[in-house]
Amino acid sequence: MINQVLPAGAVDRTDEDLLALYAYPAHSPWVRFNFIASLDGSATHQGVSAPLGNEGDRRLFGLLRRLCDVILVGAGTVRAEGYAGPLVSEEDTRWRVAHGMSGHPALAIISGTLGLDRDSELFQRSPVRPVLFTAATANPERVRSLSEVADVVVVGEDRIDSRTCADWLHSRGLGRILCEGGPGIFGGFIAEDSVNELCLSVSPLLTGGEGTRISAGADNPQLRAMTLASLLESNSALFGRWVRSGGA
Ligand SMILES: NC(=O)c1ccc[n+]([C@@H]2O[C@H](COP(=O)([O-])OP(=O)(O)OC[C@H]3O[C@@H](n4cnc5c(N)ncnc54)[C@H](OP(=O)(O)O)[C@@H]3O)[C@@H](O)[C@H]2O)c1
Repeated sequence: MINQVLPAGAVDRTDEDLLALYAYPAHSPWVRFNFIASLDGSATHQGVSAPLGNEGDRRLFGLLRRLCDVILVGAGTVRAEGYAGPLVSEEDTRWRVAHGMSGHPALAIISGTLGLDRDSELFQRSPVRPVLFTAATANPERVRSLSEVADVVVVGEDRIDSRTCADWLHSRGLGRILCEGGPGIFGGFIAEDSVNELCLSVSPLLTGGEGTRISAGADNPQLRAMTLASLLESNSALFGRWVRSGGA
C-alpha cells in the first residue's frame, strides 16, 4: 500500500494514480533521475542498490520505467547491476503500446572507455539495440567491436557532455529520459546543471559502512536548488520527487 503525503494526503494509491502523478511534463528533453539511498545516506549495500528497496520502491521503480522513452545509465551501474534482457514487464509493454509508446524503452549507456563486454547478456538479450554514448578518446577497436551490437555515438572530445546526450536523445524522439544512475553520472549532470528532476527513495534501512553517496565527482562550486513536487510513503520508506527550481 502506498499512501500520498503531498500533495493532499491520500491512501493506497493505484498504479494509474501514480502514473498520473509521475507523468512527464510537456518540456522536452526532461531528465529525471531515480535513486535510492539508505537512511544513513548510502546508495548501496554490498555494492548494489537493490537490497535497499522495499515492495513500494520496486513498484514505483517499474512505473517510472513504464513512463519513459529511454533509460539512461552510466557504465559503472551497468557493470554493477547488469541490465540484461527486457527492462519492463509484459504489463508495462501492453500499457505503453496502448498509450502510443514503443513496447520497450530504449537503453542508453554513458561510457568513456567503452569497457563493456559485447558478448554480455546486455547486448545479446536486449529487446532494443542499445545506444552507447562515448568520447572521441575511446579505443577505436572497442568502438568497432561494440558498433556491431549497439549504436555508438561520440558526443565529446575527452569527456561526455550531459546536455549533448539529452539533446541527442530528444532529437531521436526520446525526450522523456529516465536516468537510473549511477553516482558518477549524477555528479556530472549536477555540475552541468542538466538535472530536471530527482526521484529519491529514502529507504528505512541503516547500512553503516562507507557506501557511496548518490552523487560523486568533484565538489560543485554552485548549489542547485530543487523544489519538492510530491512525497509518498510506504512501510516507512519515503518517495520524494524534486524538480529543479526555475528549470534546468
Ligand atoms: N542507489 C541507487 O539508486 C543507485 C543507482 C545506480 C547505481 N548505484 C550504484 O552505484 C555504483 C556505481 O557507481 P558509478 O559512479 O561507477 O556509476 P555510473 O555513474 O553508472 O558510471 C560511472 C561511469 O560512467 C562513465 N562516465 C560517467 N560520466 C562520464 C563522462 N562525463 N565522460 C565519460 N564517461 C563518463 C564512466 O564509464 P567508463 O568507466 O566506462 O569510462 C564512469 O566510470 C554501483 O555500486 C551501483 O550499484 C546505486
